[in-house]
Amino acid sequence: MNLCSARGRRGCLTSGVITLDGLTKVFPAPGGGDPVVALDGIDLHLEPGRIHGIVGRSGAGKSTLIRCLTGLEKPTSGRVEVDGTDVAALEGRALRAARRNIGMVFQHANLLDSRTAAQNIAHPLEIAGVPRAERERRVAELVELVGLGGREHNHPAQLSGGQIQRVGIARGLAAEPKVLLCDEPTSALDGSTTRQILRLLGDLRERLGITVVIITHEMAVVREVCDTVTLLQDGRITQTGDLLDVAADPHGPLSSELIPLPPAPTGIDALVVNCDYGDSERFRTTEDLIRLAEEYEAEATLVAGTIETIGGRQVGRVQLALRNRSGVAISAEGLAAFLAELEAAGVAAKEVTA
Ligand SMILES: Nc1ncnc2c1ncn2[C@@H]1O[C@H](COP(=O)(O)OP(=O)(O)OP(=O)(O)O)[C@@H](O)[C@H]1O
Ligand SMILES: [Mg+2]
Repeated sequence: MNLCSARGRRGCLTSGVITLDGLTKVFPAPGGGDPVVALDGIDLHLEPGRIHGIVGRSGAGKSTLIRCLTGLEKPTSGRVEVDGTDVAALEGRALRAARRNIGMVFQHANLLDSRTAAQNIAHPLEIAGVPRAERERRVAELVELVGLGGREHNHPAQLSGGQIQRVGIARGLAAEPKVLLCDEPTSALDGSTTRQILRLLGDLRERLGITVVIITHEMAVVREVCDTVTLLQDGRITQTGDLLDVAADPHGPLSSELIPLPPAPTGIDALVVNCDYGDSERFRTTEDLIRLAEEYEAEATLVAGTIETIGGRQVGRVQLALRNRSGVAISAEGLAAFLAELEAAGVAAKEVTA
């Protein structure tokens, strides 16, 4: 079977793959001193046609990583393979050609004020020497694709923040790249515009089969649109995987950030336990936990919690108050057995000490 035809419009299965192999970037310290290790032996394989989130604190190396992917920054060592090309090994014309396969979207689209939305989208095509008729056809297609129909003749000052970002995305897609790299694409937008832009990115992935990499500090972005997530810390990967696996791993560094536990009310006259579920085959919902408590003669009530549905599965971080049927706290032995049963079934559970 021809793999490329199997996906129809979504393109070849192998196109858009990103592989990093031992990627290291060391900057000499400006003004002397110790060199800065911005990336320290990054190994990462990003599947095509998926949306990959990369998160990490300020200074973790996210921008350096994306600059290495675009070929703007040369690694100190290691390989950077984008869509079958070792970007790090290319120079000059070959690098420019490879970079046409990589679209970029930034936090601020930095549009040219003197040009309309359509002319801004056409700009990279002009630079690439695409003939006028072809350019106009492509721009009209892109305007529709990103939902800017009717606004294509507006100048940037006549566009909303979300519309400006749509122009930025259309411009990033102009050369029909296999990979779209987005550096904090929604950080300057309000909540509802953020959701619209994320829906657009998800839709583009579906329609074009493009690989999307999103660098973000917003966990809501990761929860809403990413298929995988990678945490960078001091230039190293500390956790990576499918979003559900990462969110459901109660001991991983990202799960509590993806599914935060809101503050519980104080002064509860009961025994309180924290339970993180998502990884368990047996306990899939909060109701499952409450039912188990009943088997231990306890009544469990939910006092705080965050429950998300990721990939069709519930992932929850909840705080339960346990009381026995007559309103008295359950025994220490009962509690230990209840927690042990949960742990054995893959739910991280522990008593909250005041
Ligand atoms: N050109 C450079 N010269 C020297 N050091 C640099 C250079 N660029 C980045 N660094 C250093 O490399 C480390 C990683 O920087 P990077 O910009 O990749 O972080 P980041 O994760 O994007 O942070 P932020 O979330 O604040 O944008 C930082 O310690 C930074 O000071
Ligand atoms: Mg950065």
